[in-house]
Amino acid sequence: MKILILGQGGREHALVKALRRSSNSPEIHVLPGSDGMKNEALCFTEDSWKNSLFLQSLCEKNKYDFIFIGPEDPLVEGVSDRLRQQGYNVVGPSQYWAQLEGSKIFAKEFMVKAGIPTSSFVVVSSVEDVKNNAKLFTPPYVLKADGLAAGKGVIISDTLEELYAAAENMFVKKTLGEAGSRALLEQFTPGWELSYLFFTNGQDYVSLPIAQDHKRLFDGQKGPNTGGMGTWAPLEISKELDHNIRTQVIQPTMKQISQSSSPYRGVIFLGIMVNGTTPSVLEYNVRMGDPETQSILPLIDSDLAEFLSKLAHGDLSKLTFNKNFATCVVLASPGYPDNPQKGLSISGYDSSCKMESHYFIASGVKNESSGWVTNGGRVLGAVGIADSKHAAIQKAYDLAKTVTWNHIHYRTDIGKT
Ligand code: GLY
Repeated sequence: MKILILGQGGREHALVKALRRSSNSPEIHVLPGSDGMKNEALCFTEDSWKNSLFLQSLCEKNKYDFIFIGPEDPLVEGVSDRLRQQGYNVVGPSQYWAQLEGSKIFAKEFMVKAGIPTSSFVVVSSVEDVKNNAKLFTPPYVLKADGLAAGKGVIISDTLEELYAAAENMFVKKTLGEAGSRALLEQFTPGWELSYLFFTNGQDYVSLPIAQDHKRLFDGQKGPNTGGMGTWAPLEISKELDHNIRTQVIQPTMKQISQSSSPYRGVIFLGIMVNGTTPSVLEYNVRMGDPETQSILPLIDSDLAEFLSKLAHGDLSKLTFNKNFATCVVLASPGYPDNPQKGLSISGYDSSCKMESHYFIASGVKNESSGWVTNGGRVLGAVGIADSKHAAIQKAYDLAKTVTWNHIHYRTDIGKT
């Protein structure tokens, strides 16, 4: 079996590792991939999925069993539709359904139509709009850019002054570009957050173990929001909450999707805020989470390559899970998330690390003649797998301590809050 993955980060490396556990030893290609994956997959780091001629020639030459689209950008840009039109089997939703992540307004309108619990909102496109509508909400105020904004699209303000300044940045200074030409002003949702992912063929769904991310940069949920500083899974929830998520969120989501003619073969990742046993949807993502994927995929016992190959053809099979726990601690570069330092020399890292129960995930590393250097904000993920949550966390942190670079940063409370 031959598989192509689009993407280059920790999520894609975790996918490579999980696919390599498949019984028929698939040949895995990643476009572009990264230096840190090169021991396990053929990476085309000099190129990109954005080069559609190169992507097309790769597909023609290799006749992949399926193509897995990792990040949201190619989905929002319609790469899955183009590949399907060319006759290839793809795991990844259509451009139409990618709007669930690509447009926060589309997602809210979808939820309203389907009766899915989510916070109240108005659509705004100017500072005036924000000023006229702020009285409808209580602080803290949430202003959410409509488009993809690389994790910078949600601004939470404690006061009206801060909210108006955020609106000025978004609509007048255009700090987020076109992504911020429209936005949601929405009611803040208190509670605790979980990451609920499921695979779907557009008709049925198969849930994955629930994960919990730690989005803030510093321990104790302090500091700026990031793409995610660490995750653990599986998070056990009460039967009642599980029932409420399935009946109030997933079933209405599937009903809407199944009535459409646009294909959804891929994953849906719900960011859900929980209050007691009541879920409220914060966001839809149309791809796997990063670093959620790093702690979810080690829990799958089934043959993932077989499962995804069938899904790419529209068939959804069952998945079985082991009884382990997995944790991923993200090791970041100084300056992350705003201005991460690249080119810092990494010591202690071994990309050929093959230990089954703890290993590094390459998120942003580069191999230069001088050795390994940082090449992004989230540099490595230290993954620990064990039969208890406590032991999985311990393994991840023991591994994290074996590498370093100047001003390395990681949270010390992943799984502990
Ligand atoms: N970890 C959050 C995300 O992938 O969006």
